[in-house]
Amino acid sequence: MKIKRILLASLSLLSFCGVVSAADAGKDLYTKTCGVCHAAGIAGAPRYGNAADWQPRIAAGTARLYASALKGTPKGMPQKGGNLAASDADVKAAVDYMLASVKTAAAPAKPAATATPVAAAAAAAPAAPPAASVAAPVTNPSANTSGVSAADINSFNRLLKPIGKRNPPPAEDGIHDPTNDGTLALMAPLAAYGPLPKSLAGNRINWVKAIEENKINPRWDRNDPAATPVVIDLNIVREVKGSMPDVVYPHKQHTEWLDCSNCHPAIFTPQKGANAISMAAILLGEKCGVCHGKVAFPVSECRLCHSKKKEVRPAQAAAAAAK
Ligand code: HEC
Ligand code: HEC
Ligand code: HEC
Ligand code: HEC
Repeated sequence: MKIKRILLASLSLLSFCGVVSAADAGKDLYTKTCGVCHAAGIAGAPRYGNAADWQPRIAAGTARLYASALKGTPKGMPQKGGNLAASDADVKAAVDYMLASVKTAAAPAKPAATATPVAAAAAAAPAAPPAASVAAPVTNPSANTSGVSAADINSFNRLLKPIGKRNPPPAEDGIHDPTNDGTLALMAPLAAYGPLPKSLAGNRINWVKAIEENKINPRWDRNDPAATPVVIDLNIVREVKGSMPDVVYPHKQHTEWLDCSNCHPAIFTPQKGANAISMAAILLGEKCGVCHGKVAFPVSECRLCHSKKKEVRPAQAAAAAAK
């Protein structure tokens, strides 16, 4: 699926911006993982460079801060920021990096115990986050929803029309330049997809299964062949009003392909229930529809999302019995 490949290629642009170097491990991890929430204060995360946010926490001691970052907190700080592949040392370095952003502002000379009110007030003004790209990923797929004409290859197939010719060769797909020699060097999808597990929707490949069965091993980073995705196994159940089964949103299957910053915070605030999602929005190409129906399985596959049978809640059961 060419569109998907282009998506993945642009995703790798996101990740190769931060090339890992030992000296900058803290800054690097911050940019890659922590900044998603700590740059703008998502879900109440203390903001980078904002002394007022950090002061009460610093007072509790660095040991607690390290422990919170490593193990997570019940108030929304995920274990290692959700990046379980990060080493303990790098996570601590990322904490140090955030603390340095407020310490330099509050106490330039020494970590003085008595910061003057003036200095504290000055420090309370939020500093610019170090990497604007963290908060506003350039390659965010939501960009596709603006200014895209209906004829565009990435436009949302709202009427769920069956697509005419599926998986055409690169020179005929409307995406690649047919006059470029490189286009001819690409493998034709129909040949490449041969051994992959099939599905009945979209381009007829079950991409989730293809990864699970190790049939494909998408490269995460354009420059670094050893780079691996940050996969988190966290299901979010969204109760659906009416008779449709509830929706289970699985982080695992998404984070195998997608960096957190593709969804957080631009499409979804990372907090269970904080986002108003409706089928109408999805069909307009928003929320889940930013990808589903374009680069991921189409909206016609109701059961893949509406996968959880409704629990009979005690109140409902009682009401039914009373009838
Ligand atoms: C998905 C959002 C999110 C990500 C990603 C994230 N944090 Fe947090 N973090 C939070 C929230 C929310 C809080 C406030 C939670 C609380 O008060 O317990 C927090 C609090 C903290 C605290 C203060 C804890 C305390 O005990 O006061 C530290 C330190 C911290 N985060 C470090 C990190 C580091 C290091 C990373 C990256 C490796 C990271 N965070 C990534 C959401 C996030
Ligand atoms: C494909 C989109 C997508 C990607 C990629 C994604 N998330 Fe999420 N995330 C969601 C959705 C949807 C929710 C649920 C929001 C809701 O219920 O309103 C969510 C919720 C969360 C929550 C809140 C959990 C809770 O119980 O409140 C956290 C924390 C979180 N995500 C962290 C991450 C991290 C860390 C990554 C990267 C490793 C990531 N997410 C990648 C879509 C995504
Ligand atoms: C940023 C793009 C993006 C967004 C936004 C997104 N998804 Fe996905 N989703 C994908 C990709 C890519 C896959 C894996 C490829 C595929 O299955 O087509 C996937 C797979 C899934 C799967 C796994 C299906 C299986 O076979 O196991 C479910 C379920 C799912 N998405 C539900 C949702 C729901 C619900 C939302 C909204 C809350 C959502 N997705 C938002 C891109 C996205
Ligand atoms: C990509 C995932 C996805 C697919 C595919 C999907 N839905 Fe949904 N659906 C959702 C989400 C997310 C919600 C919002 C749940 C909530 O209220 O939090 C929803 C809500 C609904 C609702 C409740 C009313 C509303 O608009 O919120 C109905 C009814 C519904 N879907 C029907 C369908 C039908 C029928 C199909 C198949 C043609 C379908 N859905 C396919 C994700 C999906």
